[in-house]
Amino acid sequence: MEQVYIEDIASKEGVEVLIKGWLYNKRSSGKIHFVLVRDGTGIIQGVVSKADATPEAFDLVEELTQESAIMVSGTVRKDARAPGGYELLVKDIKLVHLAEPYPITPKSHGIPFLMDHRHLWLRSRRQQAILRIRHEIIRACRDYYDSRGFVLIDAPILTPTSCEGTTTLFETDYFGEKVYLTQSGQLYLEPAAMAFGKVYCFGPAFRAEKSKTRRHLIEFWIVEPEVAYATLSDIMDLAEDFICYIVERVLTERRRELEFLERDISKLENIKKPFPRVTYDEAVAILKEKGVDFPLEDDFGAPEETLLSEHFDKPVMIHRYPTKVKAFYMEPDPEREDRVLCVDVLAPEGYGEIIGGGQRIHSYDLLLQRIKEHNLPEEAFRWYLDIRKYGSVPHSGFGLGIERTVAWLCHLPHVRETIPYPRMLNRLYP
Ligand code: 4AD
Ligand code: MG
Repeated sequence: MEQVYIEDIASKEGVEVLIKGWLYNKRSSGKIHFVLVRDGTGIIQGVVSKADATPEAFDLVEELTQESAIMVSGTVRKDARAPGGYELLVKDIKLVHLAEPYPITPKSHGIPFLMDHRHLWLRSRRQQAILRIRHEIIRACRDYYDSRGFVLIDAPILTPTSCEGTTTLFETDYFGEKVYLTQSGQLYLEPAAMAFGKVYCFGPAFRAEKSKTRRHLIEFWIVEPEVAYATLSDIMDLAEDFICYIVERVLTERRRELEFLERDISKLENIKKPFPRVTYDEAVAILKEKGVDFPLEDDFGAPEETLLSEHFDKPVMIHRYPTKVKAFYMEPDPEREDRVLCVDVLAPEGYGEIIGGGQRIHSYDLLLQRIKEHNLPEEAFRWYLDIRKYGSVPHSGFGLGIERTVAWLCHLPHVRETIPYPRMLNRLYP
């Protein structure tokens, strides 16, 4: 008998197949049992009748508990009424493992309970849909850069330098020396861009974020391109094109999952170039119009980001923030020395920042001055400064956070469901 995965069932009409999976749910009407079997690729309804199934299989169904491991054999039948369009006329069922009473039942549970059972929650249809979309987004990120001549440069996870400020560093001991878990691969990509022209990295980043928000994880994944000779404007074009590519891919490859999540797909179909581009000062003016009394020259917080990202129906690119609210490595705006050549891309529908990046300082003296102004240890940045000594050129890049992108595309209220095992302020298990 042919073993098949449920996702391939449509090509097996009339064929006797074997499915290895778990019992998702069952119901009975005396002479006939309906079993919902899942195998990780999908769910199919099995019809277990006295007429077609073995007596052992028929009796076994009565004992089966939710999530019991079973191997089910039977004939595939097309049935418009069945979920998924096909059902299995069951001949036999072999019990592999009888599950103990399963904590997550079809009734609804509270979020803390589900988070405590994340290792089991992954089996739910909703989590499967979200994590398949996540996988597709990650695949799209790799394909995008791989097919455009970018070289993958893996940045180290243990690093003695801090990229995004010193307040969110995770410190650990490196044989007697202080090191941190990386906040971003950027500092290592800049030298690589001088070696390879166009590079990217893709890995986990860690930030000891002490505030609880729906946008922050302690451990998240970030994809970062870096391009030699690119200016802020070049990198904004890249970010725009990249986002369109990801959205397009998810719309074509994961439409079923989006529909399952009841995502308003028209909102995603609207994500086409060009995106609105506004300066920080224009963004502040928009906030003022909305009645927000925004402190002068401050960074946008979560409420401002939400307001701005609801104002546009496409991602909005906000550029040229005040120097003092941004990282030490940002190139000053030649037109206005209190502004830097940076960009934040805010996703629409209130999702807020998904990309941060910009043009990097390429002058040795200015970079050294900034390192000092930010009280960073000069010694740890020697190698980074070196890049400004040997053929220094303007260069730019950005980082896109995977989890925030997943949250936006799936329209989730919180990033906790966007990653298989979230690390949050008060959560380390499972
Ligand atoms: O804006 P950020 O801090 O930029 C950087 O790290 C740059 N060094 C990237 C670069 O230019 N190569 O972070 C970039 C993105 C944010 O826009 C957000 O999507 C995500 O990383 N991010 C987080 N996602 C989840 N939880 C957190 N705590 C995050 N912090 C940043
Ligand atoms: Mg940022």
